[in-house]
Amino acid sequence: MKRLTTICLLAVASVLSVSAQNIYDIKVKDDAGKDVSLSDYKGKVLLIVNTATRCGFTPQYKELEALYEKYRAEGLEILDFPCNQFGQQAPGSIEEIHQFCTANFAIQFPQFDKIDVNGANESPLFTYLKARKGFSGFDTTDQTGKFMDNMLRKQDADYDKKSDIKWNFTKFLVSRDGRVVKRYEPTEKISNIEADICMELNPVLSTIMARRSVRKYMDKPVEHEKLETVALAGINAPSARNWQNWAVRIIEDQKLMADVKDMCRNAPNLICVCAPADGRFDLDAGLLGENMMLAAQSLGLGTCIQTGPVSFLTTDEKAKAFRNSLDIPEGYKLLYIIAIGYPDEQPDARPRDASKVKFIK
Ligand SMILES: Cc1cc2nc3c(=O)[nH]c(=O)nc-3n(C[C@H](O)[C@H](O)[C@H](O)COP(=O)(O)O)c2cc1C
Repeated sequence: MKRLTTICLLAVASVLSVSAQNIYDIKVKDDAGKDVSLSDYKGKVLLIVNTATRCGFTPQYKELEALYEKYRAEGLEILDFPCNQFGQQAPGSIEEIHQFCTANFAIQFPQFDKIDVNGANESPLFTYLKARKGFSGFDTTDQTGKFMDNMLRKQDADYDKKSDIKWNFTKFLVSRDGRVVKRYEPTEKISNIEADICMELNPVLSTIMARRSVRKYMDKPVEHEKLETVALAGINAPSARNWQNWAVRIIEDQKLMADVKDMCRNAPNLICVCAPADGRFDLDAGLLGENMMLAAQSLGLGTCIQTGPVSFLTTDEKAKAFRNSLDIPEGYKLLYIIAIGYPDEQPDARPRDASKVKFIK
């Protein structure tokens, strides 16, 4: 019994370690059957796609090649994995497939060995990608999307409940630091994918899009130099007449942190942002905070802005030593805190409502 428990625990541990791996730890085979480590693509924006040569979507090769030629110099790589699992639409050897693609679409992006993307023999790369970005449906307002949905539902009424790859030309966008940013079904317009690629290629935009409130941190304090950089980014925010009516306190003392940690997502460090009590400069203090959170993101740190713990921090007896250490200037209040540390989770983006924005032309 004990042995069985041990085996089960080991099995769970090995599943966890597989799911916890980094994309750059994965190896794939090139068209000559040689191992290629995805770490060769560190720092590149990747569009990973399962392809087929006899599919209604096969003309997408032309659009993919156009994307490649347009953005390759800026750091885009398209990784092409032919797969014969959908309607057997990628028959023949990898040499034949490659010949077809170069002759018909003049593709220049790397084409890898044929793989399975679903099932017992599926490529670890696609296991990794599917685990991070599941299926979120076809756009059924679009004719092709509706067709695909009907076709697949006929085969399996619950097809949409599973994260497996649905058809040829499913794509995954991966950021320069290896995050799986998005999954696109084959019906997604290439122009939408292009817009996301542009975001990822631009370091400021990709940092903005990658920042998410982190509520789970590693037990590892942030290096002082990094906190200094974050603070410098903060005070370079705009402020009314450059008055800089704010006071920032960055807590590195782990004894002080111990009193308040559980209120602050157990982050190892805390940034306290104070502003004049009359509220006239709350906007300035807010801009300062966003600068700091984006700077932190770009340094591999996670943050969570919080107003929830402010009343605890300013009134509770348990936080007295902490409060006294802040040395808040006369006439100022603690406005908000930012939990900061090395993230121990990668939260997905919460939905955003684009209808809040109107363009007046
Ligand atoms: C003024 C303000 C106060 C917030 N207070 C809290 C808080 O007390 N606790 C918390 O977990 N998140 C807090 N948040 C984070 C928001 O929940 C979060 O920004 C929002 O859900 C969007 O998610 P994202 O930051 O991951 O994009 C606060 C955000 C703002 C702007």
